[in-house]
Amino acid sequence: MERAVISPSLNQNYLLCPSRAFSTRLHSFSSSTRNLSPPSSSSIKLQHSSSSSSVLSSVSNGGASLTRCNAVLSNSSSSTEVSELADIDWDNIGFGLKPTDYMYVMKCNIDGEFSKGELQRFGNIEVSPSAGVLNYGQGLFEGLKAYRKEDGNNILLFRPEENANRMRNGAERMCMPAPSIEQFVEAVKETVLANKRWVPPLGKGSLYVRPLLMGTGAVLGLAPAPEYTFIIYVSPVGNYFKEGVAPINLIVENDFHRATPGGTGGVKTIGNYAAVLKAQSIAKAKGYSDVLYLDCVYKRFLEEVSSCNIFIVKDNVIATPEIKGTILPGITRKSIIDVARTQGFQVEERNVTVDELLEADEVFCTGTAVVVSPVGSVTYKGKRVSYGEGTFGTVSKQLYTVLTSLQMGLIEDNMNWTVNLS
Ligand code: COI
Repeated sequence: MERAVISPSLNQNYLLCPSRAFSTRLHSFSSSTRNLSPPSSSSIKLQHSSSSSSVLSSVSNGGASLTRCNAVLSNSSSSTEVSELADIDWDNIGFGLKPTDYMYVMKCNIDGEFSKGELQRFGNIEVSPSAGVLNYGQGLFEGLKAYRKEDGNNILLFRPEENANRMRNGAERMCMPAPSIEQFVEAVKETVLANKRWVPPLGKGSLYVRPLLMGTGAVLGLAPAPEYTFIIYVSPVGNYFKEGVAPINLIVENDFHRATPGGTGGVKTIGNYAAVLKAQSIAKAKGYSDVLYLDCVYKRFLEEVSSCNIFIVKDNVIATPEIKGTILPGITRKSIIDVARTQGFQVEERNVTVDELLEADEVFCTGTAVVVSPVGSVTYKGKRVSYGEGTFGTVSKQLYTVLTSLQMGLIEDNMNWTVNLS
């Protein structure tokens, strides 16, 4: 990969994109495109940053990551070598697809085994109109992020094995074969490194990694597809909500439900997300950021938001709906619970009522895409309750700071959660 030398005194974005010709966006290629020159896998090193599992040290909060990133990139006393970055406006990434250079494709043979995965130019894929995923929704997806460290060169993945494991659990529920954990993690590493120039500079966002598993074999009668395809594509992303890091406004949904007991609400199947589009678009048209769903039996217990899990804080005790098959076992949810406990908070995973939500001191959401998002208000049956002063609550800010500092490598990874790629 070409490299650029950054001189500390010049504008960062300009310097990181010295070669406009090189970084011109690549055209889409058909899925049959082969004979590419992916980075040699021998150049990929996977290592956990730390083997210790002791508690996290606390860090000071207050936007430390961004400030620190800029300081390191612009104040270093000598030239710093970093990978060349793609030529995009890193200050306004948002959360939308930006086609990158490569995607990873791996097919499953008739024996249910995945093998011979490879990098291909990012582009459209060809599937039968009769593919299981198109006809019967036999598909799963995952989401994880890669962050560029402050040295500008090393990349950190956050808990990729957890995504691999969740995809395997989901595949079991959806009658699909799935890549092994090793295959999944290796594929993520290769895809991220092949698209390294799209990993935003520290403090500007992250590279969102989207693994897909789908039934691509043809079916007509209802049955599991005879063939499966695993794909990973990536996109640089910034904040998920248009509010940025400002608190979001949720409406509690009383009529539509996201999941039912015994259904697929607890796995990351594509249909769960199609099912919430109606309620979400009605809510957005009324000015809400997203929808908070209640359980479909009692219409009383919190489930999750369309795109993330939900937490409440009351008298410094944190509570979140327990995992019982109808909500997604979020990896950020799980990580925040662990971070909160290491920070000394009591965390309860249990049924949380909508009345408790309305009485809470703080409310926040967690997810790979949303990270930790403060909730500024919830509206339930026409009654609006507000939290805080239009900023992060104290508890959620503390948890956000520790989590993101870990993800970006700004504090020591005592949890052994990050995977370093260089
Ligand atoms: C994620 O947080 O990664 C998700 O999959 C949610 C999606 C709706 C963006």
